[in-house]
Amino acid sequence: MHHLIEPAIQYWGTPVVLVSTLNEDGSSNLAPMSSAWWLGWSCMLGLDASSQTTDNLRRSGQCVLNLPSDNLAEAVNRLALTTGSRSVPVHKKLLGYRHEADKFAASGLTPQASEAVAPLRAQECPVQLEAVVEDIRPFARRDPRMGVPAVCVEVRIVKVHAHSDILMQGHAHRVDPDRWHPLLMSFREFYGRGERLQKSRLGRGPEEAYAPWKHTGLKGLAGKALVAWSRHRYGGSERTQGAETPS
Ligand SMILES: Cc1cc2nc3c(=O)[nH]c(=O)nc-3n(C[C@H](O)[C@H](O)[C@H](O)COP(=O)(O)O)c2cc1C
Repeated sequence: MHHLIEPAIQYWGTPVVLVSTLNEDGSSNLAPMSSAWWLGWSCMLGLDASSQTTDNLRRSGQCVLNLPSDNLAEAVNRLALTTGSRSVPVHKKLLGYRHEADKFAASGLTPQASEAVAPLRAQECPVQLEAVVEDIRPFARRDPRMGVPAVCVEVRIVKVHAHSDILMQGHAHRVDPDRWHPLLMSFREFYGRGERLQKSRLGRGPEEAYAPWKHTGLKGLAGKALVAWSRHRYGGSERTQGAETPS
């Protein structure tokens, strides 16, 4: 039997991301977040508009999305309830947040130079995605249950660093999902993922089928033509009007 409930939060379980961004003084901020999802080489981040990370993304337009594995929960926990903002926003003060100038030092993670962007990577994270900001817009403006002003930040990944431990044997460019153990957050608690349940039907066929840009020659031309036709046929650039809140 289902019950109608009104949970305070809807954090159903998503990977933790340590977002590294550039502070005004040139140092790197490092902030845990988990409202993130990927499509293609783009990623959408849901962020508190008042956070240092949002400020930094607006100003510098660059970041690194460091994905911790489940054995890094302790490092992430050290960053919880901290902000790089010198002036801690009131709603965060009420939640017990404090200012932390050097988040890398606070986390115990090792800063590492990036290749295409200025913010530093977190060396211990098996996945580090260098990215640039494509779009920042308000999020959930019409949602009366949204507690703080929020933004959604679309970033485009420009470099993917993956540790050899998580790569599929015999494939230079494939992550082995049996070896990649992301740290997940569900309702503010940390989890790892379980073992693979069964063979996935979606997982049949080569991953490259999702990446027409990887093909060369005739196959590449056909892929490009298909992408162009799909864009023309299905669009994807329009903005829809928000629906009224159902009662
Ligand atoms: C595991 C975890 C997940 C979090 N997820 C988010 C999130 O998705 N979006 C967000 O705005 N804040 C999230 N937070 C809170 C941020 O870490 C917090 O806003 C912090 O102040 C950001 O740091 P900054 O102000 O230095 O950018 C999360 C915190 C933790 C510990």
